[in-house]
Amino acid sequence: MHCKTKLFSVQIPELAKCSVLMRERSRVEETIYAMQRAGAGSLQVISDFDMTLTRFAHNGKRVPTTHNILDNQLLIDEDCTKKMRELLNTYYPIEIDASRTAEEKLPLMVEWWTKVHELLIQQRIRKDMLAQAVRESSAMLRDGYKVFFDRLTEQQVPLLIFSAGVGDVLEEVIRQNHVFLPNVHIISNYMDFDQTGVLRAFKGQLIHTFNKREGALSHAAGLRALQGRPNVLLLGDSLGDLTMADGVSEHQNILTIGFLNDQVEERKESYINSFDIVLVKDETMDVPNAILRYITSSRDRK
Ligand code: TMP
Ligand code: MG
Repeated sequence: MHCKTKLFSVQIPELAKCSVLMRERSRVEETIYAMQRAGAGSLQVISDFDMTLTRFAHNGKRVPTTHNILDNQLLIDEDCTKKMRELLNTYYPIEIDASRTAEEKLPLMVEWWTKVHELLIQQRIRKDMLAQAVRESSAMLRDGYKVFFDRLTEQQVPLLIFSAGVGDVLEEVIRQNHVFLPNVHIISNYMDFDQTGVLRAFKGQLIHTFNKREGALSHAAGLRALQGRPNVLLLGDSLGDLTMADGVSEHQNILTIGFLNDQVEERKESYINSFDIVLVKDETMDVPNAILRYITSSRDRK
């Protein structure tokens, strides 16, 4: 064990950074070893999108979520912008409030998403304007995203992006960053357009931050590409993201990584107790990339 630990710090030095917190380092090490022994063929990656694959902030300014990318004159009028911002200012503090439980937050999140989606539908958003809105936005994936997507593609590891954001916008963000690759699968809130390309509804069951478990059980469990891959690397920025792997039957090893972007001191303890690895104010994919590099390397496989 001692020897392994030494080996570990040499092979994944990124885990020694002071922004990396772990409740139980030995469990993390054992899980990564087990995943490496099983190899890329046994692995799947499940990741949240907003503020997990995308940055939280850049040059001191918040990076927009997929919903906030829609806040563009091309798509919505001033009154809608104002209302969406008011809703964000009301409900986002609740979403990240360390003093409330997920059960308490759940109905309020349904309220937030429902109100925003109703507003968006009233705006008669045009499908053919979405790409331009994404181009004009300051949407930004985390540093190192290219290495992340490329390695998963190279190793034929499926990536499930599981987002309570807007699927059509999410797809456009990854397309414009040239990483909408064949191994990428998406579960999200998709827009339903009428024959003339005008938004008329959202498809399927609403996904918000605290009902990803239901989405995982109804959608992810049926995704063929994910089957027969019992090892899961899960990435998220909300405690609600931890249920994204609930659809994986007969999993063997799960390693969870949580990006702690906001309200750091208030939420540190609960994040450390909930995620295997917590990354504090880290805008990069360096740690997930280092772990993936190790897991998908063939060296020392027994
Ligand atoms: P995620 O599941 O990809 O992280 O997307 C959900 C995030 O979207 C969540 O953290 C809150 C955020 N959000 C907005 O920024 N604006 C909105 O209007 C809504 C409904 C959600
Ligand atoms: Mg998120």
